[in-house]
Amino acid sequence: MTFDMNYKAIIFDLDGVICHTDHYHYLAWKQLADKIGVYFDETINNRLRGVSRMESLEIILERYEGEPFTSEEKVSMAEEKNAIYRELLKEMSEKDLSSEVKDTLDQLRAGGLLLGIGSSSKNARFIMGQIGLGDYFDAISDGNNITKSKPDPEVFLKAAEYLKVKPEECLVVEDAKAGIDAAHAAGMDSAAIGDAFGYALSTHHLSTFSDLLKASGVR
Ligand code: BG6
Ligand code: MG
Repeated sequence: MTFDMNYKAIIFDLDGVICHTDHYHYLAWKQLADKIGVYFDETINNRLRGVSRMESLEIILERYEGEPFTSEEKVSMAEEKNAIYRELLKEMSEKDLSSEVKDTLDQLRAGGLLLGIGSSSKNARFIMGQIGLGDYFDAISDGNNITKSKPDPEVFLKAAEYLKVKPEECLVVEDAKAGIDAAHAAGMDSAAIGDAFGYALSTHHLSTFSDLLKASGVR
């Protein structure tokens, strides 16, 4: 292990990077979509990656052909979806955190890096508790402390502020193109994984999570 590192901190998106909640989001939105009679499938669900809850609802309603819903109705639909989603999240446990992810995080920390979360989700702390990472990160910036969703840089700039580092000292790990755009807008390097792999704007591309050791300069 060398200590010739490129960054002081790594900021991780949660959903699709540290763990996988897409299917739970899908099941919860699908239940709501069926109830109001609007078509919804996994392809549309993929468009919700990194997008806030209310913006996700707007994407789902693009196919809705009935009378427009009022703002109050939309808020209540989003709350209904979230209640279903939270019930599903109770099924998550430490088995939903892969040993590759946990070992890599431990090595990054041992290499002297600060580790933060930059997630659009208001359920981020609950999810981290479920998978056994409740107290793990040095700072958490999530859907509860932002007013603008990715691709706006706010969530990552707040994470850097909480970690007490400069934006240019951070590397963001993301599975959503909107998240890579947000990192870029924040003046941070990014590492794309999963759905975002190959996205031209990202600094590094991770075939697998442990590739982060090389991208960050820890190994
Ligand atoms: C992001 C997910 O992490 O959080 C999105 O990728 C989701 O799909 C967003 O819409 C908001 O989540 P929550 O838990 O606040 O409804
Ligand atoms: Mg994500």
